[in-house]
Amino acid sequence: MQFSSPFILSSLLLLSLPLIFLLAPRNTPPKAPPSLSAIGDPDEAEDLAFFRRATLASAEPVGRAGLRRRRASPPKIAFMFLINSDIGFAQLWERFFQGHERLLNVYVHADPSVDLVLPPTKSFKGRFIPAKATHRGSPTLISAARRLLAAALIDDPANAFFALVSQSCIPLHSFEYMYRALIADSGAPPSPLSSGSVPGPLHLRHRSFIEIISHDPGLWTRYIARGEDAMLPEVPFESFRVGSQFFVLARRHALLVVRDRRLWKKFRIPCLKTMNESCYPEEHYFPTLLDMQDPYGCSRYTLTRVNWTNSVDGHPHTYWPAEISGDLIYQLRKSNSTYSYFFARKFSPDCLEPLLHISNSIMFSD
Ligand SMILES: *[C@@H]1O[C@H](CO)[C@@H](O)[C@H](O)[C@H]1NC(C)=O
Ligand SMILES: *[C@@H]1O[C@H](CO)[C@@H](O)[C@H](O)[C@H]1NC(C)=O
Ligand SMILES: *[C@@H]1O[C@H](CO)[C@@H](O)[C@H](O)[C@H]1NC(C)=O
Repeated sequence: MQFSSPFILSSLLLLSLPLIFLLAPRNTPPKAPPSLSAIGDPDEAEDLAFFRRATLASAEPVGRAGLRRRRASPPKIAFMFLINSDIGFAQLWERFFQGHERLLNVYVHADPSVDLVLPPTKSFKGRFIPAKATHRGSPTLISAARRLLAAALIDDPANAFFALVSQSCIPLHSFEYMYRALIADSGAPPSPLSSGSVPGPLHLRHRSFIEIISHDPGLWTRYIARGEDAMLPEVPFESFRVGSQFFVLARRHALLVVRDRRLWKKFRIPCLKTMNESCYPEEHYFPTLLDMQDPYGCSRYTLTRVNWTNSVDGHPHTYWPAEISGDLIYQLRKSNSTYSYFFARKFSPDCLEPLLHISNSIMFSD
């Protein structure tokens, strides 16, 4: 397994200390005037404290107890559900998770302003993390995803990958299929932490799977959604990216995200009222940050299939029960990248029955 040698691990951790300082925010962000901020200062301070805890907790395995804990467990996948309605597919996910409990964790960020019925099923019960209200077209969706990452970092040092999904997402393959592909993936170039031609340890070569697009006709309008110069100097237009809201991050990138204050200071500024049609901060923050900090450590494509054909008001096509078939699943898996798609969205909640019907014979049979 990847943590087989305590010596390698501890020398690695020592070597990574300078990097921690390098990545640490260099200046404290100035306080945004209250009128500018959609996220209130108390909420912001609470998040900041939570993210600091996650950063500290991630440094903890340096200690002997942490190291033992880390070596005792195989790498896991953290499934992070960002939801603002009931998890209609809880039963489908349970079937997907079944028998692999030691290789995964579930975390749920449920919008507290919506009265949700919490799924009482095995994997979801009690997996709720401290949540705050989320609104479309505001930076609250970024905060919610960062809270999920922080909670998963703190909860289990064995979490190696962090997959963000929504209530309308479904898995397209078996758990084994995804786990094998992710854990074996070593697409990132040898880490600068490893010397010469010796490739770094596997977990440093794990890639994050997130779409990163640098040329898009609508990018400039999205960039100036907070005002023409609002993103400067931290985010010049040349560095501004668009990509998938749903992603799978490697652990070192999850840490990078919860540690960031420099870019967040800009992305938390609400869009101008006149620009609300171009306001999708969560589609820009993660691809921009990761592309600035570790461009070669990311796949640049997503593992989550979305159908944008005939999209209305920024919403992709939603599949209805009559559309569900084995052929649809095979169709949705097809991608032009190294890996076929792992997840797909959006599915209406009443697709549960037809999906359960083909889950064992088709979806999870590989
Ligand atoms: C933008 O604002 C207008 C007026 O407040 C509203 O009707 C519209 O739905 C908003 N569009 C988006 C994408 O939020
Ligand atoms: C994508 O959505 C459109 C309807 O908007 C539908 O006709 C098409 O079959 C869908 N494509 C796939 C691969 O499901
Ligand atoms: C793959 O590439 C082809 C050719 O560029 C394109 O028509 C097709 O839509 C792509 N498929 C997916 C799933 O992105």
